[in-house]
Parts: sequence; C-alpha cells; structure tokens
Amino acid sequence: MRLLSGMRPTGRLHIGHLVGALNNWLSMQSEYDCFFMAADWHALTTSYTDTSKLPEDIMEMALDWRALGIDFTRSTVFVQSDVKEHAELYLLFGMITPMPWLERDPTLKNMIEDMHLRGANYGLMGYPVLQAADIALYKAGAVPVGIDQAPHIELAREIVRAFNHRFSIVFPEPKALLAPTPRLPGTDGRKMSKSLDNAIFLDETPEDMKPKVTQLITDPGKIHATDPGDPDICSVQYYHKALRPEDAPQADTDCRAGRLGCVKHKGYLAEILSSYLSPFREARAALRGREGETRELLKAGAEAAGRVAAETMEEVRKAVNLPF
Ligand code: TRP
Repeated sequence: MRLLSGMRPTGRLHIGHLVGALNNWLSMQSEYDCFFMAADWHALTTSYTDTSKLPEDIMEMALDWRALGIDFTRSTVFVQSDVKEHAELYLLFGMITPMPWLERDPTLKNMIEDMHLRGANYGLMGYPVLQAADIALYKAGAVPVGIDQAPHIELAREIVRAFNHRFSIVFPEPKALLAPTPRLPGTDGRKMSKSLDNAIFLDETPEDMKPKVTQLITDPGKIHATDPGDPDICSVQYYHKALRPEDAPQADTDCRAGRLGCVKHKGYLAEILSSYLSPFREARAALRGREGETRELLKAGAEAAGRVAAETMEEVRKAVNLPF
C-alpha cells in the first residue's frame, strides 16, 4: 500500500512535529511504500512576502528528517515544486471543488485566525485542494498526519470521490492515519508553533531547554509541592506520557497523592527530553556539511516521484477528455 505525507518547510523542526507527525512517519517506513514531501508551495500560501529563506528552510528540514531516520533511499523523499504535475492536478481538482467545501474547512479557518490573515488570498483558499492533489497524484491510500490535518484529509476524500464520480474511477479514497499522540502544547499552553515563540526545538542543547521546561503550565490549583495535583491538565505530564510512557503512570499517581512537586517533575522531564533528543542531536551534527549529498537525494526522489506523477496525469487527462 502506498502512503504519502508532507510538511511545510517553515524552519527548525520542534518536538511537536516529532511527536505529532514524524514519529508516525518513521514507524510506517518498513510497512508501506512511503512518499514524503517538503510542501514548499503550501508554505507560500501563508509566507509569500519574504521567500529568501525558503531554500535554506527546505534543506534544514531535509537534514532534520535524515537525522531522525527517514531513509531517503528506501522512501521517496522530494520537494513538491520539483514535480510540476502537482500544479496541474491542483488546477483540475479546483474545477470540481465547490467553494462551500473550502469555506467550512475548520483547519483552514484556524490558519486564517492564527495568522491574522484578514481576507485570505486565493492561494490559501486552495490549500486543501493542493493537498488533495499531492495525495491523489501518487494514488496514496493512507496519509499519516496529526489530528489538526484530519479535516483536510476528509476534504481530499470528497474531492477524489467527486472526480471519480464525474469522470472515471482513477483514484483510491485516502485514509488518515492519525498519530497516536496528538501535538504537544507549547511552553505557554497554546499550540506549539515557531511563530508563537513557544516551541522546544529538536536541536536545542539541554541548557537551552531547561528554562523552557520551567515555563510549562502545570495544574494552577497545585500551589505547594505537597498539594494533590491534576495531571490531566498538566503540560509536564503530557510531555512525560509522550516521551517516556513507561513511568508516566507512576508520576500520575504521585502527583495526585501530593508526592510529586511540579519543580521536581520538571527537573525529571528536562532529563527525559535531553536523553530523548540526544541521538537526534548526534545524527544531526554528523550530517553537517552534507547538503550537497542531500540535494542529490532530493533530486533523485523528485525523479522517482515524477515518473509516478506522469503516469497518473496521463490517466487523468484521458478521463477529463483533455488532449494528451
Ligand atoms: N498541510 C500539511 C501540514 O501543514 C502539509 C501537507 C501538504 C500534507 N501536503 C500534504 C500532509 C499531503 C499530508 C498530505 O502539516
């Protein structure tokens, strides 16, 4: 079975990307025929004013993926804009997507609110249509994503269904494979995001991370170390559960019983985080200076993806009765 997922290149990856999406990708590599894509055109839908950092952001993300264990020789890893067929299928999908489907997409609404984009541009409205094209171009049946992307995948299913119904059956309906752990909250309790300045980055040193761990929001009703707390509303415990599930139930019990203070729990979490990320930091350091090689791997990935995309588009043009 084929699988596709993508990520916008928006700079350094943070722990939310890892827990909410990339760990899920990693676990799929041995079972599926995986396509992983740097969604640079998607990045342009919101960050079109200054694109000077885009090449660097793409490379940083690719190096981060490699350091995490995404295998560029086993999976097909490429940059969206290197395969122009995405744009062609996007255009055709645009013809069969009713506007109200886009207007009620909650993920799109959130993006517009988060980024204070008054009056979204046409490109942003098309965001889910482009995403549907990304998936359908490779006839992917499964899409590993975080829960925030679920509405986009549902829309992709509807668009593909509309195409199959109107023309002929070309595409499978893709299923979302949701990450087992949802995205972790940022240091201020809101969704973790670079633009909100509340992220813990994958390449941070333990010293840089410590003050951020200290900021994490715990149960506001727990004032003293010996007060019983509610771990269900504690960011420290969310992280603990995601990163070291083995002894998280013990912390839950101890917090409720007033045997585990927040300061102590944060100290322990700082250790968990630093040992969790240390293999990544080492692998990432070993990749320094290997941009050229990584660029070659991405080029080879784009060629392999392009072959599949070209085949699909032949079928699509035939189905739509366009010259081919
Ligand atoms: N919208 C996704 C995100 O922001 C990125 C993305 C682009 C994607 N194209 C995709 C995800 C196709 C899955 C499949 O995370």
